[in-house]
Parts: sequence; structure tokens; C-alpha cells
Amino acid sequence: MSPLLAGAAGQYRRRVEIDRRALLRRAGLLAGTGALAGLTGCEPARHAVRAAAPVAVAPGDWAAVRARFDLDPGRRHFAAFVLASHPRPVADAIQRHRAGLQADPDGYLEAHGRRLDREARAAAAEYLGADPQGLAFTRSTTDGLGLLYGGLRLRPGQEVVTTAHDFYATHEALRLRAERTGATVRRVRLYEDPAAVTADGLVAAVRRGIGPRTRVLALTWVHSGTGVKLPLREVTAAVGELNRQRDPGDRVLVCVDAVHALGVEPADAPDLGCDFLVAGCHKWLFGPRGTGLVWGRDAAWEQVTGTVPSFDRRAIGAWIGGRTPDGSGSRSASLPGAALFEPGGFHAFEHRWALAEAFRFHLELGKAAVAARTRALATRLKDGVAAIPSVRLVTPRAAELSAGIVCLDVGDRRPDEAAAALRRQGILASVTPYADAHLRLGPSIVTSEADVDAAVRAIHALA
Ligand SMILES: Cc1ncc(COP(=O)(O)O)c(C=O)c1O
Repeated sequence: MSPLLAGAAGQYRRRVEIDRRALLRRAGLLAGTGALAGLTGCEPARHAVRAAAPVAVAPGDWAAVRARFDLDPGRRHFAAFVLASHPRPVADAIQRHRAGLQADPDGYLEAHGRRLDREARAAAAEYLGADPQGLAFTRSTTDGLGLLYGGLRLRPGQEVVTTAHDFYATHEALRLRAERTGATVRRVRLYEDPAAVTADGLVAAVRRGIGPRTRVLALTWVHSGTGVKLPLREVTAAVGELNRQRDPGDRVLVCVDAVHALGVEPADAPDLGCDFLVAGCHKWLFGPRGTGLVWGRDAAWEQVTGTVPSFDRRAIGAWIGGRTPDGSGSRSASLPGAALFEPGGFHAFEHRWALAEAFRFHLELGKAAVAARTRALATRLKDGVAAIPSVRLVTPRAAELSAGIVCLDVGDRRPDEAAAALRRQGILASVTPYADAHLRLGPSIVTSEADVDAAVRAIHALA
């Protein structure tokens, strides 16, 4: 080698060593180090959720809750769950982090990133009643479903079963998975008439849908095309019975799109009996737009591989140290599956970190109180429209079989025309994005009894 090249090589090696040491120091892998703050640290939350500025509304003062939102006060917001407007504490947090990042992106990340990430995880975990190590953040429900259904380990011959009532995001994630790997996907129908479903009927239909080769059951908890809510605990109990007769590698994994339940249904995730819950945080939770999560049981995480490289600092630390992040085949015990699954890269951190305030907002209102409020308004709406002769209520009346989504048909009117007519009167509804379309209203913590009554009157006038 010429002296010139040798000198360059030496310089290059020194440069690499300096960069390596700098990275290790930043990753917290050398003694007395700081942290690579922008990276996720999926470590157990050591700190309790930081005391936030209280929501400061008296229990049951829903007008005060509504006043925390910047939603146009001149309109009645029954489509706010489609894409959330977030309450003031969330908006303030986003603004605070944005200002910090705008002024000094790297410095703000270094100084606050790890703590803010940990706080967002701790708040989400507290809300879900779950271990933060079982959580992966995503950008949306669709993101989570795509990563989950793309990454689940399937042996040749094993199949995925989903339902005719799942949303495009599930169907398309499974179609793409099948196209890439040849996996078999089967779709089953759980009901013909959504208004007439029963819990027993739904459980029996799910059971019938499971075959000897079924490894994954891909369900949606609250169907956004009909408003039907699956009796999830009963469904998972029935699957659990089947699983007891199967070898561990053949057990059915229950994966649930829970986006229309998160922020409505008060149950803790581990009590539901499913393996994975996937949701966006920008619908009923009224969290920052572009946020979501996947929660999985410990053992279930073993069944899925990551797709987008994780930015967990332990994963990057392993890579810097010349090892593979998943411990070269045998996963390192210190790196949970959720951490490897969580898609890395730098994110819209101001939104992700403000998840802490979004979850705290609901925790302070009380999960049970939010659920009861949503249910009471949905019941009022269903009772009101059901009394209109030419209205066909699509969603079940029973609170056990429905959540916040209320779907209906108004005589022979096309749903989009009905929604447009309501919009002209300041009543904001949506249309179900399915082949069998319906008018859809979502009463929530941003609507009132007066809003519901006005919607019923307007629908009556249309009918
Ligand atoms: C059942 C269901 N899952 C997923 C989605 C998509 O959610 P996200 O915007 O969080 O991807 C929707 C509607 O937007 C939906 O109705």
C-alpha cells in the first residue's frame, strides 16, 4: 500500500473509531454517558407518570370538557372520531415540544427525548393497564396492522382468518402479506343483519370460522361499517378453549383492530384475552394526529418480527457493537419483542410525546366516565332515530354489542347525500367507507345531549 493510501486508511480508521466512540457515548454504552435521546428507550418506566397540569373539570361537567377543544363551536361534531381534534393540554404539549425542536432540534432531543418518550409510554401503559414493555408506538392503526400482519411468523400450511366486516386496512395488509409470502387468508362472515346480532351468535360464528390450520384470527373490535361491537372477552374465551387442545405452535393468535374502542371501552388490555391490540390514538382517544400503538402479550411478541428497523437504543447499541439487534437468532432477554417491532427512524416527536397528555386527559376524566358518557349519548341517538319510521338503524341497540359508532339509513336517501344535507345544517356526520355504505354518527365527549337531539330532529326532517 502506498504511504499516501496507508495514511488515508489510518486516518479513516481513526475517524471511524472517533465516530464509533461518539455514537457509543451518545447511545449510553460507555461509562458516564448521556443518552441517544431521540431513540426510544423501551426500558421499564422507572418514573411514575409526571403530574401534568390537571384537566380541571368537575366530574360530569361535559360542557367544560368540550370547551377544552378548539372544534368549531358553531357545529355539532359527530365525525370528530374519524380524525381527532385534540384537547388543549395536548395542543399545548405539541406546541411546547415543537418550539423546542424548532429552536434546537438536536439539543432538545438530547436534553428531553428519553424522558418524554418514557413518559408517553408510561401514560399509555397506565391507560391500557399494561406493561410498557409490551407496547410499540406506530403512526396509525393502518401502520400497526401492516407491520403486524406483515411480520407474524407463519409456518407453511398455516392460515389467517379474518372477517367480512373488517376494514380495508386489515384486508389489504393481509392481501399484501399473502402476495409476498403465499400465506393463505380466509374471510368469514359473522352476521347478515348487524342490528340483529347476539353475543352468542357472534361467538359461534367466530368459532365456526376457525379451522384446524388457522394460526391467526384478525378481528376488528368495533366494526366501522356497522357499529357492531364484538363481545371480545367471550370470543377470546372461546378461542382459549380451542387453544387448550392445540400445541403451542398451532394455537390461534387473536389480533384485534381496536381503534374504535380505544378511548371508549374502559377494559384493560391484558384482561381482554387477545394476543395483540392495534389502534390509532387519533380517533376516540383524541390524541395527536399521526400516532398509534400496538400492544401485545409477552409470549405473543415472540411470534412477530420487525419490518422497519427499530431505533431502540439497545438495538442500535447492538449494531454498533457488531451484533444483530435480535441477538443473532436468539433474542436477547433485555430487548423485548415490542422494542424490536417498533418502527424506528426519527418521528414527528412533538406529536408522539404529546401522547402523554392525551392519555392523561382520559385518565383524569376517568375511563369509566368517558365510556358511560359515550354510551349514554349513543343510546340517546339510537333511541331517537329508531323512532323515525323510515330510518333503518344498522347498529345494534344493546350497549354490549355497540360502542360509539351509530350507523343508519335514512329512507332511500344515499348516505353521502344525507351527510351533505346534515352538514349544511352544521351537523357533521360521515359515511361508512365500505361497499355497503351507511350514514354514520359518532357521539363522543365532544358532543352533548343538545347535539344529539338536534341530529335526531334533522334526520327526522330528511326522512
Ligand atoms: C376499523 C378501522 N381500522 C383502521 C382505520 C384506519 O385508522 P388509522 O387512520 O389510524 O390508520 C379505520 C378508519 O379510518 C377503521 O375504521
